[in-house]
Amino acid sequence: MSATPLSGSSTVAVIGAGAMGGGIAQIAAVAGHPVKLLDAREGAATSAIEGIRAQLNKLADKGRLTPEAAQAAGERLSVATQVSELADAALIVEAIVEDLAAKQSLFVSLESIVSDDAILSTNTSSISITAIGAALKRPERLAGLHFFNPAPLMPLVEIVSGIGTDSAVADTLFATAKAWGKTPVHARSTPGFIVNRVARPYYAEALRLLQEGAADVATIDAVMREAGGFRMGPFELMDLIGHDVNFAVTRSVWTAFFNDTRFTPSLIQQELLEGGFLGRKSGRGFYDYREGAAKLLAATEAPRSLNATVTLHGNSEAAIAFATRLSNANIALTSGATTSDGRITTVGDAVIFVTDGRSATQRAAQSNIANTVVIDLALDYRSATRIAISCAQQCAPAARDNAIAMLQAAGLQVSLIKDIPGLAVMRTVAMLANEASDAVNQGVCSAADVDAAMRLGVNYPRGPLAWAEQIGVATVRDVLLNLASSYGEDRYRVSPRIQQACYAGGSLHD
Ligand code: NAI
Repeated sequence: MSATPLSGSSTVAVIGAGAMGGGIAQIAAVAGHPVKLLDAREGAATSAIEGIRAQLNKLADKGRLTPEAAQAAGERLSVATQVSELADAALIVEAIVEDLAAKQSLFVSLESIVSDDAILSTNTSSISITAIGAALKRPERLAGLHFFNPAPLMPLVEIVSGIGTDSAVADTLFATAKAWGKTPVHARSTPGFIVNRVARPYYAEALRLLQEGAADVATIDAVMREAGGFRMGPFELMDLIGHDVNFAVTRSVWTAFFNDTRFTPSLIQQELLEGGFLGRKSGRGFYDYREGAAKLLAATEAPRSLNATVTLHGNSEAAIAFATRLSNANIALTSGATTSDGRITTVGDAVIFVTDGRSATQRAAQSNIANTVVIDLALDYRSATRIAISCAQQCAPAARDNAIAMLQAAGLQVSLIKDIPGLAVMRTVAMLANEASDAVNQGVCSAADVDAAMRLGVNYPRGPLAWAEQIGVATVRDVLLNLASSYGEDRYRVSPRIQQACYAGGSLHD
């Protein structure tokens, strides 16, 4: 039976009137609750309410709210100056500074003021709910209510249960977030909850590519956007988040997992931080945002002319997509046999494969095909506009040029990157799916929820588990095994859930 949300007429108190608290107060007021906003800094709650009212008027101007609804929501907001004024609140949402002692002492003071059935919640993004609850007489009524920034726009809310949280409290919060128009997901209070844990490889693999000199930041960003379908590339996204914030989250997840190498922070990011290159907010990060600074462009191969025969092999998604794209471009194709080595096309002497996590050079040596060219994963090979490729060291320049010419004839911009295992999109998606699988395997959340969380919390184009199923779970496992063997690092160990799924039909969902 699904739980009942808080009644619309019950009072919600939001403590902390900063970026998050203001957004949460706006959501609750629009949903019909009287909302009290409290901040330790004088004047902060008043100016936050003015800001929210201005925001509501803008929404009314754009037709997203009726003028009456905007006016009524604005009137439901009021300032509280002391914790004692929050006695009638049915729900407290704490969004103060990210500090365990500050949060504990606030909740301890609230415990004796609010009614017995009031729910206490925290918007913390990194502190253990269990640890906050440890200071309370009744930790069962405390849960995480983790919104994403900007709260009024981002649909996801993680409902986080600590060891002492009553499941009925989590269920009421879940139903309430839903009634507020959000998409809630349940999570256990483990480091990073869902999104801040599962998203780590998006940054970490890109930083490792950069460290190895695979390509420059603009090229990796372009590949992740234009082949991977991600809204922002990892470097531009880190610049937007701020390296201070992003590095702190990475460090905190890494430390919380007892220095698991999966989460090891990057020296490159640490150096940016040490240099004060915090990203957009300081004018410089990976990119230079200062006036007049040169814009970095992705490395793109110059046009080549296609003067070799193209043969298609097999019926993989990539092979079928290239068949369509090349036919649409009036390129004559011949049909070749499906081969056990997994090649998708041959162009003259060049043999093209989708990466399986081995470098092109390793693959060339093991299959005895010198002219090996590997291409990266694309979210959708039919509509991608760019593709990363790498060539075996053994590959002849003419064969490389044939491969590039074929990809260009199919309408793709080609970024030729250093021959590193797993290229960019494939290794990132494999690691995202691996982390998502471990989170599910360890009971942090359900398979459906991890996919929803990554789509709605960080705008990924596809949930990592659904994506792995589309690639083929055995392929994802092989990519990870090949990365593990290339690097000799525990970081790329395969999630038991992925291993199991390979033996049981390939589904990562329940
Ligand atoms: P912020 O710095 O914009 O606002 C915090 C507000 O809390 C300030 O106005 C401050 O005066 C007030 N405050 C501090 N201690 C207080 C106390 N003891 N009692 C009452 N008011 C107090 O911070 P922001 O970004 O809004 O973050 C708030 C919480 O939300 C933190 O726990 C943070 O980790 C979490 N969070 C932040 C996200 C973000 O992207 N900024 C995303 C999701 C969660």
